[in-house]
Amino acid sequence: MGKKRIMLPVEEVDISAVKYENEVIKAPHLTGFLLKLFVKIIEAPLLGSLIVYLMKKENRMVELLRNTVIPEAPMFKPEFPPQEPEPGVIIMEEDGKPEDRVESALKCLPHYDPASLWNADSSPFRYWKIRDYAHAYRSRLATPSMVAEHFISVMEEFRNKKPPAPLLVSFDAEDLRKQAAASTQRFQEGNPLSILDGIFVAIKDDIDCLPHPSKGATIWMHEVRPVEKDAVSVSRLRSCGVIFVGKANMHELGLGTSGNNPNYGTTRNPHAPERYTGGSSSGPAALVASGLCSAALGTDGGGSVRIPSSLCGVVGLKTTYGRTSMIGSICDSGTVEIIGPIASMVEDVMLVYAAILGSSPADRICSKPAPPCLPNLSSSESLNVMGTLRLGKYTQWFNDVYSTDISDKCEDVLNMLSKNHGCKVTEIIIPELNEMRNAHIVSIGSESVSSLNPHCYDGKISKMTLDTRTNLALFRTFAASDYVAAQCLRRRLMYYHMEIFKNVDIIVTPTTGMTAPIISPSALKFGESNLQVGGYLMRFVVAANLLGLPAISVPVGYDKQGLPIGLQLIGRPWGEASILRLASAVEELCGEPKKKPAQFYDILKVK
Ligand SMILES: *[C@@H]1O[C@H](CO)[C@@H](O)[C@H](O)[C@H]1NC(C)=O
Repeated sequence: MGKKRIMLPVEEVDISAVKYENEVIKAPHLTGFLLKLFVKIIEAPLLGSLIVYLMKKENRMVELLRNTVIPEAPMFKPEFPPQEPEPGVIIMEEDGKPEDRVESALKCLPHYDPASLWNADSSPFRYWKIRDYAHAYRSRLATPSMVAEHFISVMEEFRNKKPPAPLLVSFDAEDLRKQAAASTQRFQEGNPLSILDGIFVAIKDDIDCLPHPSKGATIWMHEVRPVEKDAVSVSRLRSCGVIFVGKANMHELGLGTSGNNPNYGTTRNPHAPERYTGGSSSGPAALVASGLCSAALGTDGGGSVRIPSSLCGVVGLKTTYGRTSMIGSICDSGTVEIIGPIASMVEDVMLVYAAILGSSPADRICSKPAPPCLPNLSSSESLNVMGTLRLGKYTQWFNDVYSTDISDKCEDVLNMLSKNHGCKVTEIIIPELNEMRNAHIVSIGSESVSSLNPHCYDGKISKMTLDTRTNLALFRTFAASDYVAAQCLRRRLMYYHMEIFKNVDIIVTPTTGMTAPIISPSALKFGESNLQVGGYLMRFVVAANLLGLPAISVPVGYDKQGLPIGLQLIGRPWGEASILRLASAVEELCGEPKKKPAQFYDILKVK
């Protein structure tokens, strides 16, 4: 008795009295034989449930979800109050042609100087951007077919790697040549489809893209889920002339944030091959960071676009829940996951985002999206808007990182934004962060189990990795009442965030609490379960998933070991334009000089 916790109604909570609680995760770090043994135990009928129960209790899950009176009603999907229009933005036609949106997006970018193509030798390292490719194709310095051959020869090189460390899990050289030839011909005839024509893009293996299967980097998903057409976001890119290089590697089924994958091999971090890329969009981020693709599409249900973008030193945008269509992705029925673009620069993210955006009819009924917008980076108004921005920072949370290199670097950026642009940094407090993490894990976990159950009971469980099985064993113990409790917490957290957004425009945090972790050699064959590292990687990302908010990770520099650090900007509902504008300013302040990744390929080769 006396174990019951009672939460005050959310409006009555005294925010100023809230104390920050450090996140403590208690779970064993397991690889190899021990992980195998552990999975045997937790999958055992009685003993398994007992062990998982004790682990949940140890980590306060039972207390927060079962022993607490939560006065709020559940919120089963992100529900947003109506939003004020964003200042200084251009509206994108959601129902128009993707090519036309990309054309307007292009008119939002700063002046392009083609001379940068030639001066690349003398200047510090930088990635070729989409406009560099576009210029090279239009001035006949290169053709998409030439670039395709360079890409194919790199894939040959990767095929022979031991142990395997693939960037793509499905690749078809002939299909790539065919797409490139068609694009090359459009340039020869002088009518490219858009600025994205001939641009190389990778698609994460949980988003449909013909002629490839969608396996979610499992070894069985394609047997039960054939691909009949492109996902909506992929078909929008295709109509812009994009060339799809294949299906990018990922953490199996997106159920982990390291990017470890014993099925096909673990993608290596281009900056440090002995380290993880982060996940689950491991292949998409690594392909972009290696210079092999201008952009990639990932999915983000718990940081899966932002975490690998941060660890690999590239830009990743998580869109507002309902802003992009999930039709044609493996996880098309959840309440936390979205499709978002990864690219080396903010302007490239803007171009790809302009192509893929557009909510599905179902989302329009229930979430009433505000019109999609982009910042006009070339208008003088944009600078004025920057000066009025109020940035919210929860200092104790911001500093709760593995190494102070991360918080120091991110802090420097905020100081530069104040000094150079007049942005105001405001201290905020976000209550109930532990509740938020639990509500997120119960939501994403229950939603995954619900979609995987039919296959698990159909014998596929033995074909899943040990890490996936560990997670599923935990997720399967969530009761319907835990799921409802999580949705009540979602309503509380939404309230706190909407109150904060009355006083600030954007919430800033490091993207991850840790830079790229080392891959244990024993983790390659059977995988790895390391929930503490997972906690550091996910520390700042889940608000955007549980609450559906837009968020972007933008590279801001390196730690003492030379590993990339990302800054995360979390925006108001539907506020992609505002975070893109700020991300672009951050990139300008500290995006250069960039370190050339140890694994980098120039496939444009115009010099
Ligand atoms: C953005 O502003 C520039 C400069 O004022 C203008 O030339 C351009 O047309 C604007 N872009 C759009 C899409 O309206």
